[in-house]
Amino acid sequence: MKRIGLLTSGGDCQGLNAALHGVAKALYEYYDKDVELYGLRDGYRGLIEGDYRLMNREDFSGILCLGGTILGTSRQPFKLMRVVDENSVDKVKAMKATYKKLKLDCLVILGGNGTHKTANLLREEGLNVVTMPKTIDNDLWGTDKTFGFQSAVNIATNVLDCIHTTATSHGRVFIVELMGHKAGWLTLEAGIAGGADIILIPEIPYENKYIIRAIEKRNAAGKRFSILAVAEGAISKEDSLLTKKELKAKLANRKYPSISYQLAEELQTALGQEVRVTVPGHFQRGGSPCPFDRTLATRLGAAAAQLVINKNYGNMVALRGTDIVPVPLGEVAGKLKVVPKDSDIVQAARQIGVSFGDC
Ligand code: F6P
Repeated sequence: MKRIGLLTSGGDCQGLNAALHGVAKALYEYYDKDVELYGLRDGYRGLIEGDYRLMNREDFSGILCLGGTILGTSRQPFKLMRVVDENSVDKVKAMKATYKKLKLDCLVILGGNGTHKTANLLREEGLNVVTMPKTIDNDLWGTDKTFGFQSAVNIATNVLDCIHTTATSHGRVFIVELMGHKAGWLTLEAGIAGGADIILIPEIPYENKYIIRAIEKRNAAGKRFSILAVAEGAISKEDSLLTKKELKAKLANRKYPSISYQLAEELQTALGQEVRVTVPGHFQRGGSPCPFDRTLATRLGAAAAQLVINKNYGNMVALRGTDIVPVPLGEVAGKLKVVPKDSDIVQAARQIGVSFGDC
């Protein structure tokens, strides 16, 4: 009898259930009655606290197109994993104990960056681990795409499309703030697809003078509106020169809840034009996965099952080009995949006149 643990960890995204559906169906197909799947509740919390349930085939039926995760999820910061908490819980010891108690052959972990650091820690601690890359941020090193990303791009693009019509009617400047603290993939792709005039991402620090110049150029050309797609982690050139500590202190004293409101005030003052802000927030992570994500998550799930069957542990399944391949967890953990400033997608946007606020 094979015993496999499943957990989803970190911020959720579309496609988590499709991936669980993929891995579970492939394992049941291969092992039939000779496999037991255990669902750990709320990610690593379930592994730490021994909160799990024995799943059955029906649990995975009808979930392909369902948003969220049937297992629940939570954020358990990697930096605290080796810190014994106030209740004297040694989390690493507790996770190993649950793994041992359940007599697991392998743990299949679905998550993003932080999740992969902990997955790698568990691998180093001797557990058999296979992982799948999820996040709307698409910032996981080692895979061309994470599932969840395309669905979020679709939602964010729809927001930009809708804002376009109202911005046109009123002749306003609109800022649409999209998710992504450290990586601008979502803002970049949705910005291009949604026809944003200015795209601000964390990888390319901006200066207000260039944003103002871009808007004034549009005004002079008789355009009635301008749309900015701004990543929540977009940063001014001035702030990008601060140390981490200085920036943290500055942000803590910020008058507004996020970058966009601050920028809106500055632009409104400089331009004498109405500037409105729209923040779709967690809307971008909700709802059904798009067909691309359902297919990608299914392929990754099937590939993860194959790694389990082959006992090829310690790997993340990844999309490279058109293929799904295993990538060693040791290579993935702790690395962020950000937008290269000189990538062809940035160049293409520049070529069609999109401003990144940097020149
Ligand atoms: O990591 C995915 C993500 O959606 C980011 O884009 C966003 O900054 C963050 O999670 C939000 O986290 P939380 O759901 O904890 O507010």
